[in-house]
Amino acid sequence: MFKKRPIDLDLIHNSPLERTIGPVGLTAMGVGAVVGAGIFITPGIIAASYAGPAVILSYIVAALVCALSALCYSEFSSAIPLSGSAYTYVYMVFGELPAWIVGWALISEYLFAVASVAVSWSAYFQNLLTNFNLHLPNFLTAATGTAGHHGFGINLIAGIVTFLIGLLLAGGLRESTRLNTIMVFIKIFVIILFVGVAAFSIKASNYHPFMPFGVPGIFAGASLAFYAYIGFDAVSTASEEVKNPQKTMPIGIIASLIIASLLYAIVSFVLVGVVHYSQLNVGDPVAFVLKVIHQDWVAGIVSLGAVVGMTTVLLVMSYGGTRLLFAISRDGLLPKVFSKINLKNHVPLENTWIFAIITSALAMLIPLDIIAELVNIGTLFAFAMVSIGVIFLRRLPDYHKLPKAYHVPLYPVLPIVSFLLCIGLMLKLRPITWTVFAIWFVLGLIVYFSYGHRHSVFQKEK
Ligand code: ALA
Repeated sequence: MFKKRPIDLDLIHNSPLERTIGPVGLTAMGVGAVVGAGIFITPGIIAASYAGPAVILSYIVAALVCALSALCYSEFSSAIPLSGSAYTYVYMVFGELPAWIVGWALISEYLFAVASVAVSWSAYFQNLLTNFNLHLPNFLTAATGTAGHHGFGINLIAGIVTFLIGLLLAGGLRESTRLNTIMVFIKIFVIILFVGVAAFSIKASNYHPFMPFGVPGIFAGASLAFYAYIGFDAVSTASEEVKNPQKTMPIGIIASLIIASLLYAIVSFVLVGVVHYSQLNVGDPVAFVLKVIHQDWVAGIVSLGAVVGMTTVLLVMSYGGTRLLFAISRDGLLPKVFSKINLKNHVPLENTWIFAIITSALAMLIPLDIIAELVNIGTLFAFAMVSIGVIFLRRLPDYHKLPKAYHVPLYPVLPIVSFLLCIGLMLKLRPITWTVFAIWFVLGLIVYFSYGHRHSVFQKEK
């Protein structure tokens, strides 16, 4: 179970997948996966409840933590450019059981990320409907237990949108990637539009006092802002389909992170400059601020753009999730149904449907604040393993045979600091999140010992 899987040098050099993605395409994928609810919803909550006008600092702190993990991801994905991301890397440096645990945590990241962004998507969409005086019956607007919602409820729109994304992905990758690129441009356009219009209404007085909740508020906000950066790791699932991965992977990962950080910093700074931070605890802060300054038309356009923008997160994260299940199933640790490829359009069809059905159910039934923290804990766990894994990667006996990879600076200090920061952020999450994660973890072990261990392709080869 702890025997390391040898690195398949032949597969690295002669992968059956075509290497077609260049640095621009990869960066667009990254921005597509990262920038979503984290810009259109979270800054309002962080400003109002945690950091005040210093919300920009929360985003910067979270960006720094992510940057360290991103550098470690870059080293792995350029040294071992195979699909499966952190799961595959851990298989090679720590062995099968740790790999399964990371894979299982990543499955939770993708499932909950898609479900949570779907809930945010639904919030913006329902606000758009209100502009046309259309209202859903109360019990269809949000899941039972959602803050501000009374009685039984399901989030119908969140369920439907995840299902439609599954439909799109099931139709084939070519169509989905083209649509993704167009939507990423729309998303960046509306963000620039927001900044361009709102920046003229900034009042300096809104920045005083700048840190009403002090430094602790900034850090508490940072653990929430971390959510906004999730998704850059999904880029590494594409490394088997990337041209010249030794250069392209670090560029794609780091560039998407830099672009996302800049957008977050600017938007959050403008938001709290236009409206007093205490008023920003709303479901659609970006549109809300525009309405306050009587730019109703622009607010409408931005809301529509936000819906489009969050769609790309749903799309890329669903893609990443299905490809992760595919890689795990190809190794025999999950049933073969997840790696069956449809002969007509070359996508794992059943896998895509199962993923869509599960995410759709989660999005309909679980309140947003619980799902969002679950995304963070699974992701932080994978980041921690990848960070510390870099040290073990460089000690592998076959290391010198790997393609000449990107190297993290300040080795081994940087991977260790990155590991510790991830664990530190995990420890700041609520007990309920830890309980659900523990249940998920035990469930994972049951699946492994009752299925994966006995069907593992690697165990049979040994
Ligand atoms: N980073 C993703 C978002 O902000 C999850 O929507």
